[in-house]
Amino acid sequence: MRVLGIETTCDETAAAVVGLAEDGRGLVLSNEVLSQIAEHAAYGGVVPEIAARAHVEVADRLVARALAKAGTDLDGIDAIAAAAGPGLIGGVIVGLTTAKALALVAGKPLVAVNHLEAHALTARLTDGIAFPYLLLLVSGGHTQLLAVRGVGDYVRLGATIDDAIGEAFDKVAKLLGLAYPGGPEVERLARSGDPERFALPRPLLGRQTPDFSLSGLKTAVRLEAERIAPLSEQDVADLCASFQTAVVDVVVDRTRVALRAFQAIAPRPSALVVAGGVAANGAVRRGLQRLATESGLRLVAPPLDLCGDNGAMIAWAGLERFRLGLMDDLDAPARARWPL
Ligand code: KG4
Ligand code: ZN
Repeated sequence: MRVLGIETTCDETAAAVVGLAEDGRGLVLSNEVLSQIAEHAAYGGVVPEIAARAHVEVADRLVARALAKAGTDLDGIDAIAAAAGPGLIGGVIVGLTTAKALALVAGKPLVAVNHLEAHALTARLTDGIAFPYLLLLVSGGHTQLLAVRGVGDYVRLGATIDDAIGEAFDKVAKLLGLAYPGGPEVERLARSGDPERFALPRPLLGRQTPDFSLSGLKTAVRLEAERIAPLSEQDVADLCASFQTAVVDVVVDRTRVALRAFQAIAPRPSALVVAGGVAANGAVRRGLQRLATESGLRLVAPPLDLCGDNGAMIAWAGLERFRLGLMDDLDAPARARWPL
């Protein structure tokens, strides 16, 4: 079984082909990504109209490349999946319409995939883990703790009440004058910073529901930066380190509370899973590894190229749905908002 996946919800145009190995795990046969970072960098963030146009320019070539690298053509594909949301609507329309056209021409079924579901199921592609598991989904647009009980069966235990964690990383980077996208930059500079120099808040720490709040932490970084301005390189590194450490403390505490809430609605989780762009952060991974060890659980974190947005996760979610008979009609809508 082989599925083509197309991802265009934000600033990455991506196409991939995944198959199924004998042991039931996924096989990434190709995974092509073209980042638009250069196009958006001058604006300090993603410009939706520029993103949609850039997707249009490269989508067809990227699909052709993904098929060629997988050693196949459309005839060798069983289903065509595209992220149908949530995301920037212009981009979503480009990817979904491309998939519909290919499905129509090749006479193949279409699977309209929820981008968040694709992040949620990536751990099954890479590690073949069983349901149920606890998922921490941390990206630029979303921060959620979910009990994943099956394909399409997600119970939200907690979520952010303001900014997403990736968004907080990006905003902190911007206010410190760092390059976009900010998450990797903050992590890089934090390595040479003092995580204890600034006493930043840990919002909602100890709260009995596993929700997040990041906007106060971001504001605290801004106030400290203004207080000690002009900032030296060391000041910036210390602010990055102090911010990242506060985020990790919050993430570990909130996830620990979610593990407790999990027990009320599902049997013991097979693993603690982290997904989304922020899952690439080493400090976040180390914090979650400590929690997993303390809880007697395995931590499953996707390899770095499958943490951020990519086509393989869309193809895999498409495959999971396709084999359950969950296909979509050609009038499947593109959705800017689509909660899991
Ligand atoms: O999942 P993703 O690629 O796109 C969305 O669906 O949002 O996540 C992108 C987010 C951005 O906010 C980016 O700054 C953040 O993930 N990110 C990181 C790191 N790498 C990416 N945040 C912290 N540390 C990183 N190493
Ligand atoms: Zn994403």
